[in-house]
Amino acid sequence: MKLLVIGGGGREHALAWKLSLSPRVHKVFVAPGNAGTALERKLENAPITLIPELVEFAKKEHIAITIVGPEIPLAAGIVDAFQAADLKIFGPTQQAAQLETSKIFAKEFMQRHHIPTAAYASFTDPVLAHQYIDQKSAPLVVKADGLAAGKGVVVAQTNEQAHSAVNAILVEKNLGNAGSEIVIEEFLQGIEVSFIVMTDGQHILPLATSQDHKRLYDGESGPNTGGMGAYSPTPFISPSLHAKIIRDIIHPVITGMKQEGISYSGFLYAGLMITAENQAKVLEFNCRLGDPETQPIMLRLKSDLLTLVEHAVNGTLDKVDVEWDRRAALGVVMAAHGYPENPRKNDVIHGLSNLIVEQNNTDSFHIFHSGTAMGGDGGKEFITAGGRVLCITALGESIKNAQQNAYKLIESISFNNYQARRDIGYQGINFYRKK
Ligand code: AMP
Ligand code: GLY
Repeated sequence: MKLLVIGGGGREHALAWKLSLSPRVHKVFVAPGNAGTALERKLENAPITLIPELVEFAKKEHIAITIVGPEIPLAAGIVDAFQAADLKIFGPTQQAAQLETSKIFAKEFMQRHHIPTAAYASFTDPVLAHQYIDQKSAPLVVKADGLAAGKGVVVAQTNEQAHSAVNAILVEKNLGNAGSEIVIEEFLQGIEVSFIVMTDGQHILPLATSQDHKRLYDGESGPNTGGMGAYSPTPFISPSLHAKIIRDIIHPVITGMKQEGISYSGFLYAGLMITAENQAKVLEFNCRLGDPETQPIMLRLKSDLLTLVEHAVNGTLDKVDVEWDRRAALGVVMAAHGYPENPRKNDVIHGLSNLIVEQNNTDSFHIFHSGTAMGGDGGKEFITAGGRVLCITALGESIKNAQQNAYKLIESISFNNYQARRDIGYQGINFYRKK
């Protein structure tokens, strides 16, 4: 059977690699893919990104199922286009993806369905927004309504910061249409975790829990990024909290969408704040898997991913069980010089070739590529081609052990001025230390 994965980051490398391990799969196309996906057994890159061309490609290649990685094609209606052409695809429709593509849609939806989240108000008028800030006082969080590639959220510690965020988004329009409306919400304190499920519109299959590290530097300092590393499972979601999250958040989302006439099928990612009272509140929804959360999650997945996706597409997710490696997995991102503002391209990456041979003979680590290409001397070297470059992902008996294994691998990989945090997993490790 042939499959198609849409996207070209570490998340898609991990998804395509895991799908390729199914004995029933003989090829996984990755569109557009990267230098890492180009080299995997059974994987082949297809240099296409336009939706009509992807539809034609899927027809021509007799693709059994397409799996979508990033939010951009989902927001552009790739699922609607494939379904209109009678092609099987796993992901939410454009309308269902509004849970991620419009913060206001998501907040109003949560309010209608009593899903716990930060208190908020929405504005198009900067004058009213400024008044609200003076009335509520910082800390406050200012969010652009639309997709803004991680640049749409300002956590304002002072009223001045909140006022200037309002001016930047609503008056100067520096995010364009994505910022024609804003949400100002209550600042929540606590531990941030990622809760990701698969759903067929009716049934829910939770994936292993995880925690991401969004800031560039150690100890949560520096600018926000797409994510500098992640580990799974996270101890901050106890079995009882897990059950509560399904009952009070995930289940109401799926049934609420259905009640409103929008079936939500696909991966659903709830970014949650776990408060000091051990309550989970929604920070955001994403209509896709997390990157880099997917990399450790896929390394721990023992079940056949194709079987899970088939059940999801056929509406029978209640008929399947999922099995996880009991070990922890941890992924460390190596990012390009200048990331996230202005990542440098074309730096030669050293040390990957030996590890590629080694990783094909073990289940204990995998190097997932994102911003990589072939280039350099004779076009035969790996070079940097994006902000986040690699995610070095390893299993271990504990989070600490997985962390040691991942950092040991990093020692043999290098490129000029790469950036990597040294503390991925520290909150999970400290959790056990305190016990
Ligand atoms: P979002 O895109 O909504 O997840 O926001 C990006 C990041 O901003 C989150 O990952 C949090 O770290 C932070 N954030 C968002 N909303 C809040 C909030 N209400 N309170 C505190 N931090 C927040
Ligand atoms: N790692 C955060 C995200 O994928 O949104």
